[in-house]
Amino acid sequence: MPATVIVGAQWGDEGKGKIVDLLAQHSDLVCRYNGGPNAGHTIVVDGETFKLKHIPSGILQGKECVIGAGCVVDPGVMVEELDALDEQGVRTELVRLSGNAHLIMPWHPIIDGASERRLGKLQIGTLRRGIGPAYADKAYRLGIRVQDLLDPKILRQKIEVALADKNVWLERVYDEPPLELEEVAARYEGYAERLRPMIADTSLLVDRALDEGKRVIFEGAQATLLDLDHGTYPFVSSSPAVAGGAAVGTGIGPTRIDCVIGVAKAYVTRVGEGPFPSEIEGPDQERLRELGGEYGTVTGRERRCGWLDIVGLRYAVRLNGMTSLALTKLDVLSSFAELPVCVRYVLPDGRETEEFPAHQSDFHHCRPVYEALPGWEQPLDEVEDVAGLPENARRYVAFVERELGVEVSLIGTGAERERVLSPRGLETVASG
Ligand code: IMP
Repeated sequence: MPATVIVGAQWGDEGKGKIVDLLAQHSDLVCRYNGGPNAGHTIVVDGETFKLKHIPSGILQGKECVIGAGCVVDPGVMVEELDALDEQGVRTELVRLSGNAHLIMPWHPIIDGASERRLGKLQIGTLRRGIGPAYADKAYRLGIRVQDLLDPKILRQKIEVALADKNVWLERVYDEPPLELEEVAARYEGYAERLRPMIADTSLLVDRALDEGKRVIFEGAQATLLDLDHGTYPFVSSSPAVAGGAAVGTGIGPTRIDCVIGVAKAYVTRVGEGPFPSEIEGPDQERLRELGGEYGTVTGRERRCGWLDIVGLRYAVRLNGMTSLALTKLDVLSSFAELPVCVRYVLPDGRETEEFPAHQSDFHHCRPVYEALPGWEQPLDEVEDVAGLPENARRYVAFVERELGVEVSLIGTGAERERVLSPRGLETVASG
């Protein structure tokens, strides 16, 4: 029985939530392994909209869901999310929260925003949810963890120690008002009451599930090119987003992972700053944004849009050990007569490469080389299976498979859950 990682292969927003939601039907347990409320999934089921930030989308399928040790949790946001799901009749008692996950504290979003303002033109374009500062405090060993919520005395003490440091930074470095110990402690004690029943030894829970032959999905937040170590640093998020992060972030050994499904849009989007070789110049960018509804789930920000980048995807195949690819939003390309696909980069010294540049200056200054594929110029809404796709759409998919040497196991053709085609059947993909 497989343990399957589902990982974004580009800069995020590839539609991972929908793929997880779909495969969760055939799984027993869904685990988030990194990130925090910087991730946002909007899932529409039977006309009802569900918004998720912390909780894996498997919860909508009534599956047990784990938030692993590698995540950072904003308890205020999480309580709001739980309340909304409760009101919509979702069984939130199935959520398990690792005691080793770190908490986003009130100073983290303030510092995130203040340091972005200071960076000015050099800013990263973070979501200002405190993600970077929370992971920084974890590494600095000043973090406060979910398990600290179990004991009000310990919680207050840890807040006091952290605030002694943070208030100096807030006042003297960032010119922000200090935070008040009693107010923060009381607020977090309120969250603690709500979250306590969910705190569990999730590493043990996942290990046992695997031993019992259960099907486990590991859901990555953000994506490969936003990975802290291997992404387009410094324009990245602050956690290990690549598939290897699934083992670290949930507390299982890497040998336990069987399959890795990368998720990529049939084009590319990026939110925030940073280099983007296949970003479209001219009116087609706006056209693609409108057609794809490319506005951020968490912030509503416009996403930058580009043509499919095979060089970036080849890198994602390598970094993740991808066993297959889910290609989403193919329908968004339906009205273009010609579809440029970036197959190589020209480096600043004039050399051409098919491999992702290892040095950031090469990546920042490279130019895309496109191969133009013919479009299909017809809607895909009526398409029921892969054979029903227009010939040029099938060619587009086959081109991607050939260039990457990886099977495309799922193809997204529309917003609804059922609009995902699977050449060898969903059940087979779910069982590896
Ligand atoms: P942070 O994760 O808020 O620190 O933001 C760091 C970078 O990652 C920024 O460029 C964000 O726009 C980007 N980012 C973070 N989360 C997501 C996501 O879920 N989708 C797309 N981009 C993201």
